Amino acid sequence: MIDTQLLMPTEESIQLAAQLLERGQLVGFPTETVYGLGANALDPEAALSIFAAKGRPADNPLIVHVAEPEQLEPLCHVNSTALKLMDVFCPGPLTMILPKKEIVPMEVTAGLNSVAVRIPSHPVARAMLKACKLPIAAPSANTSGKPSPTSAKHVMDDLKGKLPLILDGGECEVGLESTVLDLTSSVPTILRPGGVTPEMLLTVLEEVRIADSILRPLQEGEKALSPGMRYKHYAPTGKLTMVRGRPENVAGCIRRHTEAAKAQGQKVRILAFDEHRDMYSGLESVSIGSLNQPQCAAQKLFSILRSADDDSIPLLFSETLPASGIGLAFMNRLCRAAGFNEIDADAGEE
Ligand code: TXA
Ligand code: MG
Repeated sequence: MIDTQLLMPTEESIQLAAQLLERGQLVGFPTETVYGLGANALDPEAALSIFAAKGRPADNPLIVHVAEPEQLEPLCHVNSTALKLMDVFCPGPLTMILPKKEIVPMEVTAGLNSVAVRIPSHPVARAMLKACKLPIAAPSANTSGKPSPTSAKHVMDDLKGKLPLILDGGECEVGLESTVLDLTSSVPTILRPGGVTPEMLLTVLEEVRIADSILRPLQEGEKALSPGMRYKHYAPTGKLTMVRGRPENVAGCIRRHTEAAKAQGQKVRILAFDEHRDMYSGLESVSIGSLNQPQCAAQKLFSILRSADDDSIPLLFSETLPASGIGLAFMNRLCRAAGFNEIDADAGEE
């Protein structure tokens, strides 16, 4: 066990973070999407220590973070599509998969010939990346399988004793991980939806493909385009069920399940949109924001799943969003957190 310091970002703490990274150590830091667990991406030992701290399967590659587009040149083959995308979306919640160059260790890419790269926009992430002048490999700073961390406390809860420093940058603005876009395929392909939506990408690209495993489980024998898509992910300890359909039907279905569970002494938590919360009066519902602001549901999801675990809630029910715009990323995470467990309330399923 090492002593984990939780520090507010100041010039000194950012210098300390940079020194630790230069020495091959781990640092937890905020980004606009979720908190990252950073290490020097050019140091194979440092990269391996990320996998150990998270309990991450060794075949799931890491994202390399840099402060400026010029820093990508030594790491990967940047094509014209990547340049166009960077002009519009970087810094920001976009990760691009590009053919890697020799300097990036196989430990970072889990043996792949491509590398995932991203330029975060969070001022603390940027300050830290500039101070250490290194490319930083960073997955989300959670224990593998758990919901990603959107506050410094979440990182502390999962990784205390496994790293020397966490920089506290408050709550993450996007709340879901970056969009992972594969630029090594003939048509750019979204492997993981995130803050940069397909609609936004189409303002720059002629065509974007969406990997079809985004809203369904991988079929038996099917190859995951993105290794991260294979694992059960983002799951709370309690059992989460998504309920789809017309709002009255959804609320009716969730009410019946909740009342039945309560009659057996089980606690239930309901994730509901503000416009529908009246329909759950007398039951314990938490707001996932307004239907008109789906980015709010995205921002809150992981934190709500984590607090349900903190409160030992065994059963959760959630309303759903249409899978467009940021709704696609929200539904991708919700489906995985629920292990694809869902009820169609319009079909009268129970
Ligand atoms: O928002 C984010 O992207 C956060 C912050 C910290 O930047 N990071 C993050 O990293 O979510 P991680 O490791 O939790 O997710 C990385 C995803 C995984 O699904 C992984 O399989 C995929 O990116 N990935 C990384 N390199 C890849 C590659 N070369 N080819 C295909 N998928 C790749
Ligand atoms: Mg992750």
